[in-house]
This record gives sequence, C-alpha cells and structure tokens, in this order.
Amino acid sequence: MTLSLARNSVAEVAEKESGVLKRALGPLDLTLLGIGAVIGTGIFVLTGVAAAGQAGPAIMLSFVLAAVACVFAALCYGEFSAAMPRAGSVYAFARANMGEPVAWILGWDLILEYGLAVSAVAGGWSGYFQSLLAGFGLHMPVVFRDAPGVAPGSVADLPAAAIVLLLTWLLSRGVKESTRVNNFIVFVKLAVIVLFIAVGIKHIHPVNWHPFWAFGYHGMVAGAATVFFALLGFDAITTAAEEVRRPQRDIPLALVATLSVCTLLYVAVAAVLTGMVPFKLLGVKSPVAFAMQYAGQNWVAGFISLGAIAGITTVILVMLFGLARIVFSISRDGLLPRRLAGVHPRHRTPFSSTWTVGLITALVAGFVPLDTLAPLVNVATLFAFSLVAAGVLVLRYTRPELPRPFRCPGVPVVPLLTAGICLYLIFNLPAIAWYAFGVWMLAGLIIYLVYILRRRTAFRERG
Ligand code: ALA
Repeated sequence: MTLSLARNSVAEVAEKESGVLKRALGPLDLTLLGIGAVIGTGIFVLTGVAAAGQAGPAIMLSFVLAAVACVFAALCYGEFSAAMPRAGSVYAFARANMGEPVAWILGWDLILEYGLAVSAVAGGWSGYFQSLLAGFGLHMPVVFRDAPGVAPGSVADLPAAAIVLLLTWLLSRGVKESTRVNNFIVFVKLAVIVLFIAVGIKHIHPVNWHPFWAFGYHGMVAGAATVFFALLGFDAITTAAEEVRRPQRDIPLALVATLSVCTLLYVAVAAVLTGMVPFKLLGVKSPVAFAMQYAGQNWVAGFISLGAIAGITTVILVMLFGLARIVFSISRDGLLPRRLAGVHPRHRTPFSSTWTVGLITALVAGFVPLDTLAPLVNVATLFAFSLVAAGVLVLRYTRPELPRPFRCPGVPVVPLLTAGICLYLIFNLPAIAWYAFGVWMLAGLIIYLVYILRRRTAFRERG
C-alpha cells in the first residue's frame, strides 16, 4: 500500500463495508433530519443580532446570499455523497478518491464544524431552557448556570452538558428510534415558525423596513456570513448515507428539499421580524419571542420559547449524529484509533464513536463558553464547502470514469461559484475566527504527520 496516497476503489470499499450499519431511512426521514439539523439557534437567536448590528432590514437578502452558497454547496455534496453512500459524509468519498491527506484535512475540519456546533448550540439550548424554568419561578443554582467566567460564581453549564448526554444516549439506542423523536420535534418547530409568521404578519409596520440598506451592501454581506450559521447542518444528511435505503436518489432530493423549505421560512421570518420591530431593538437573546412580546402577543411568545427549545434539541441531535458517523468513518480507516469504529451488536449503531463524541462535546458544552465561537463554526463549514466544490471540479477531470448517480449541474460554473462565495464569506468573518481555525488545522496536520511516521515505522518493522 502506498503510504500517503492510499486510495480504495468505490466498489472495493462498498463491498467490504456495506451492511454494517442498518439501512433504515427514507426520503422523508432524511429531509426531516436535514430540517432538524438546520432550524435552531441561528434563526431563533442570530437573526436579531445580525439585523441589529450588521445588516438592518437587508437581513432578508443576507439569508438569500447565504442560501445561494448553501444550495450550490449542496449540489456538490450531492454528487460526492450519492457516488459513495458511506457513513461519514464527504470524508468517505474524499478518502476513496482524493487520497488520504485531503480526506484527513476534510475530516479534521468536519470534526471541528460538528463538534463546536454541538457544544455552541447546547449552550443556546441551556439559555432558553433556563428562561423557561424562570417563567415557572424555578432557578438553577448559580454554579450550574453557565460555563466558568460567563457570570459571577458560575462553574459549569449543567443543562448544556446534560442535554448532550441525554441525546447521546438516545442516538446510541438506534437510528430509527432517534429519527422518530427527531421527526416529531421537527413538526413542532415548523408549527411554531408558521405560527410566528401568521401572527406577526398582522403586526408589520412597513416603516420599520426603512432604511432597507441600513448598513449598506457590506453590512448585508457581513450579515450573510453570520446567518450562514442558521443554514448549516443540511450537510449532516450526507453523513447518514450508509443508513439510507436508496441513497443515490434520496440524498440529493433531501438536500434540495431541506434548503428550499428552510430558506423560504427564514426569509419570511426575517421580513416579519424586521417589519414588526425597529431593527435596532432586535439585538436581544430571543428576538423572535421578543417581537411577539413587543406586539403584545405574550401567549405566542411563550409558544415560541418552547418551540425554540424543541428546535435547538434536534440541531444538537443531528449534529451529534453526524459527528459520530464522521469519527466512525475516520477510525474505520485507521486515521483515528480503531476502537472508535465499534458497532453495537444489537442496535447496529456506531456505539463507541457516539459515546466518545458525546462525552467530549458535553464536557466542552459544560465548561467552555462557546456562544461567541459561532464564527469559528462558520469558517470550518465554509472551508469544507470550498474543499468539496474544488473536489467535484478536479475529479470531473482526473476521474471522469467514476460512476456518478447524481451529477452536480453546471460544472465548472457551480463548483467555482460555490468556492468563490464561500471564500468571500470567510473573509467577512472576524479575523479571530480565522486564527483559531488555523490553530486547529495545524494541530490536525501534526497529528497526521505523527500518524504517518508511526505507520511507516510499523511497516518497516513488519519487513
Ligand atoms: N443551523 C443550525 C442552527 O441554526 C446550526 O442552530
């Protein structure tokens, strides 16, 4: 075996590994899984922040710009994922067709994206959960309210860690059981969003939409880089590829369906929100519920808080699901300890990776205040999108013979636009996020070099 550029043929890998995980998911499950991963903290929290401080009413267009980047990226993801329906998202495809180093870079990047998203979103969940408890006059002890340093006396964010552990347990029980819970909650959050739009539309004052370009064109782009967070997560659909009954047809379908539904809802929510409340007032923790209180609709605000908790729960669930499968896939290839690729004999779920990532992200969620790190999740995701887009383009020329049940339309324009827009958005994020991302990737490079050296030594010793 060549040491650094090991490639497996699609057929070889598929034959060796198919059937390990259970193929239980259909197109509706998959779309609901996607919506479960997408609608969460972003729409319920970040929309207000971005409208108040970055884009003004043009936040509606920020969502459109972010969605364009995501739809293009989804088409590229669709080509990769349908061509090789293995667990672990595009990492698996890159591993088989683009060589180990590229696959490792992508896999390491995806671990950051999903891991940090789980922890950051769990922090948001805890905030909503505690404010709901407070509504009933119940309060957590101060030491367990927040990560250290967030509030005086806080030591750990107990609800954030607890929700991650609870969902880890659920995921380890079985994929079908998890998607059943997910499907139910997705309906709840969709209902809450539709309720917000239906009630809010009656309280719109068009004067609030002026000036539309409150922070100019650049403000709109900066807003897009922020609310991009609200759309990410759809790529988690591709991590489930090995558990889908007809992946070639259903994955691209579910990707496009998820993004269409979410974008329509987001633009509508953004329009209603900025129409109801002067945008400068929207920089609060729960802008969607706040808008309802502002309009005197307190009962709707209560429902919205409940829906937000439910919504954010499924984001954590699906992100955790995706992260476990990426780690499972990388470990199965030997790039991370093989112990992590253990499958539960009865439930046929990636048991070891699920509990490992669950415990780590629970710890991070409990002890690290990650709210401000949403930009880092965005950099990691945008980087992954650019890499996948570049991969689609390169492989069309270097491996034209590869079977591609779904072909990304408009090559080379679509992949080029995907990479271009993603890089443009990365440069509109705070520089601190690029540096933190650089440190993570450097750590990944060092781990990879150590792995190569150890493998080479073992290879020599075996003669
Ligand atoms: N899109 C997900 C959210 O907004 C990450 O919570």
